[in-house]
Amino acid sequence: MSIDTSTTTTTRNGTPLAEAARDHLWGHFTRHSVYESTDTGGLGNEVPIIVRGEGHRIWDINGRSYFDGLAGLFTVQVGHGRTQLAEAAAAQAAQLAYFPLWSYAHPAAIELAERLAAYAPGDLNRVFFTTGGGEAVESAWKLAKQYYKLTGRPGKHKVISRSVAYHGTPHGALSITGIPGAKAPFEPLVPGAVKVPHTGFYRAPEHLRSDEYAFGQWAANRIAEAIEFEGADTVAAVFLEPVQNSGGCFPPPPGYFERVREICDSYDVLLVSDETICAFGRIGSMFACDDFGYVPDIITCAKGMSSGYAPIGAMIASDRLFEPFRHGTTSFAHGFTFGGHPVSAAVAMANLDLIEAEGLNERVATLAPAFRAELDGLRDLPIVGDVRGAGYFYGIELVKDTETRESFDEAESERLLRGFLSKALFEAGLYCRADDRGDPVIQLAPPLTIGKPEFAEIAGMLRSVLTEACELL
Ligand SMILES: Cc1ncc(COP(=O)(O)O)c(C=O)c1O
Repeated sequence: MSIDTSTTTTTRNGTPLAEAARDHLWGHFTRHSVYESTDTGGLGNEVPIIVRGEGHRIWDINGRSYFDGLAGLFTVQVGHGRTQLAEAAAAQAAQLAYFPLWSYAHPAAIELAERLAAYAPGDLNRVFFTTGGGEAVESAWKLAKQYYKLTGRPGKHKVISRSVAYHGTPHGALSITGIPGAKAPFEPLVPGAVKVPHTGFYRAPEHLRSDEYAFGQWAANRIAEAIEFEGADTVAAVFLEPVQNSGGCFPPPPGYFERVREICDSYDVLLVSDETICAFGRIGSMFACDDFGYVPDIITCAKGMSSGYAPIGAMIASDRLFEPFRHGTTSFAHGFTFGGHPVSAAVAMANLDLIEAEGLNERVATLAPAFRAELDGLRDLPIVGDVRGAGYFYGIELVKDTETRESFDEAESERLLRGFLSKALFEAGLYCRADDRGDPVIQLAPPLTIGKPEFAEIAGMLRSVLTEACELL
């Protein structure tokens, strides 16, 4: 198959793409004033338009190339430009472009379900497909509610999740999300979504800062406390990421998930491992619960399943949760037209073939310490407070004072992240994330294909931009 990689710079109407984007495209989580013209009070910046990708590099419409330090959006595990995946999509579209999973099935979804069940730990054998992570989270909450209704505990409907965590944007998933600013415009949301502290050890309560294990037990016990407070007969599920993305890559302290599993079992509450980011090699295994040694009741996943070459997500549930749906007239009255789309499922199969054939999980497990060491090398900069994460997934927390760990206030953070860092990093050739949904952090989640020379390249770009940031402060 020959693939045309030529680039157009105008729409079919002859309008420059940047102009048409400004006038017609509604960006996701996008502050549009940045792109509005200065005549109307905007900043007059051009929307960055990315036209091509190859390996870990992307190119914009002006021909400039950048290091994709975020794998698009924590997604492109195998790197850009993999023609095998384009070919898998074309072959599937030619054979059967679309058919739903509503009482019917198609081979691509069946093959993929069997494969995901084999990767998943324990008896997580039942795969419900979605088009992305938020829908998977939404599905998991609905399943938890219906499961308890079907098994004689209809009052169990509430969910517990962690502060600052992001779990998606549908109303249910957004209720589980712990970022007040993302929720406020849409309130009232779904009732019954309770928050507990996250596992950010760098900002652990003072008395726990020298003992990560004790901190992990403390954080896990906040879940037990919330269940007690709400009443175990009202709580259905706990939603946790293996490594929490939002807030800047909080890994679980040693012993944390062991204690959480114990708590969930003792109160009969389901443990949902939201692996939208962490699955498919991001941490080093197909499912990150394996990296941290726990077996959840449900896994939610998406992104890296297809490396983003086509949209797909999944909720993978245990046999126990599926059992009541095997009988009589019962069904899970829930679904999406494009859930488990044949083209996406075929692409996911080809993507998983690549991950296996190229040993990407082993690569991440082997090279992660070298990646971390490169980033740790930035700690001499007076703005770098913490470097944390796991696998190929790291956050660098920026602080005003490394001794006191004093953070930037809202205005300073706005000036630093939006006013300077995001743009400066991109101009320096690094696409990554500068985020202040918790304390200010830079986040990295590159394709899993990179190695030591690229770690050094990332660290070099970060060093020069962060040095400049220090001078500006
Ligand atoms: C942990 C987690 N859950 C859910 C979502 C939502 O996924 P999607 O954007 O595919 O709906 C995300 C997105 O980044 C995520 O990181």
